[in-house]
Amino acid sequence: MMTSHEIRRHFLDFFRSKQHLIVASAPLVAKNDPTLMFNNSGMAQFKDFFLGNGTPPSKRVADTQKCLRVSGKHNDLEDVGFDTYHHTMFEMLGNWSFGDYFKKEAITWAWELLTEVYKLPKDRLYVSVFQGDSTDNVPFDQEAFDLWKPIVGEDRIIYGNKKDNFWEMGDTGPCGPCSEIHVDLRSPEEVAEKPGKDLVNADHPQVVEIWNLVFMQFNRKADGSLEPLPARHVDTGMGFERLCMAIQQKRSNYDTDVFSGTIHVIEELSGRKYEAGTGMADVAMRVIADHIRAVSFAIADGLVPSNAKAGYVIRRILRRAIRYGYSYLNLTEPFMTKLVPTLAMQFADVFPELNAQRDFVATVIREEEISFLRTLGTGLGRLDQIISDLGEKGTKEIPGETVFELNDTFGFPADLTALIAREKGLTIDETGFQKALQEQKARLGKMQPHRQVTGSNWPKPTGLSLLATTSQKPMRIL
Ligand code: ALA
Repeated sequence: MMTSHEIRRHFLDFFRSKQHLIVASAPLVAKNDPTLMFNNSGMAQFKDFFLGNGTPPSKRVADTQKCLRVSGKHNDLEDVGFDTYHHTMFEMLGNWSFGDYFKKEAITWAWELLTEVYKLPKDRLYVSVFQGDSTDNVPFDQEAFDLWKPIVGEDRIIYGNKKDNFWEMGDTGPCGPCSEIHVDLRSPEEVAEKPGKDLVNADHPQVVEIWNLVFMQFNRKADGSLEPLPARHVDTGMGFERLCMAIQQKRSNYDTDVFSGTIHVIEELSGRKYEAGTGMADVAMRVIADHIRAVSFAIADGLVPSNAKAGYVIRRILRRAIRYGYSYLNLTEPFMTKLVPTLAMQFADVFPELNAQRDFVATVIREEEISFLRTLGTGLGRLDQIISDLGEKGTKEIPGETVFELNDTFGFPADLTALIAREKGLTIDETGFQKALQEQKARLGKMQPHRQVTGSNWPKPTGLSLLATTSQKPMRIL
């Protein structure tokens, strides 16, 4: 069986053989781009090259990029752990042409790599092309269709709308029509029952998109209009973990060797076996195996959990994982920190920044765990009481004031309270929470007119947050 290391290596070697320069992943935290908090796709570090505002080191580039989809336009956080193929942090394998080759090469090379190098069965692959959109005045992608037809046959081509087949970086920025490649990993019996084509883009865990080929042609402006780019480019992104699932013939990303090492340590720490099921203990193991990657690599890239902006996103992800471990695996002592060495070793060759700072990363996580575990049990007890009181009153919404109290007193981010509420069939009053937060800021502002208040005053930032580094590194060439 091809290991995940070999799969990654084959990708980079393949594009090196097609005269691509192999570059290193940019840090998870997006730098110098006010429209983006985290790098959410491989192309983010190349945005200026698409817009014509900079010169790339080569017209052909390929890499594996650490991506985080937890905020903004691309946000998969709520699905993580409950399904088997979404992640907070994932690796995106990508190849780019900056004003060089276009659809023909992008399509033929993608097919060659998938079917000849990775040997994915051709009769399990489907492709989609953009059907056109009159509001944006962009026509059906006839060119992509004509290129795919002799390769896959017309009956394997799906026509996709703007939501699925017009890729945009964010509300503004480079964009264009795309062709996706989907793989059907179901058993022959399941395939005989229903054709894979009917399950493309239908949220089926074994019929998933693996590669997106974007043909960058436009810049979406703030007023919503599309402006043609100075040149036409290719931007592709392949989900590495899903590709491993397909090649290793697994039914879940978590069954591949990308996650099995971490899951094994979680099994040891919790004394429970991972059964790849839908029970909450299995969901918790998947959440933890996923979140530890996002948190560890974000810290290695210079972030620390804090009460503001990107640091707060990392704090929320970490606390979410801690609570899953606490509630469903009975992990009441710091445990996330113990997963760092396995991860650091696993990625030492491809993302050496984690291994280089493994002790620092483990310490930051441990501090955060100690701090949150101090109040988690009492906070959960209080929340249970609140939920039971509401149940007696027949109310299904947790008041904003209460969400605020849980945040302020016990360090429960509002989305964590919302998550726990959801598990019990309740919602939270988000607007009321925001109002209470603003009122507190105003109160604190009056008391301390010269101090900037960045959010809830709990918990106090630890000394570690001073160690955050946010220096911009130049693009590394491998
Ligand atoms: N930028 C494209 C994506 O993220 C390839 O899907």
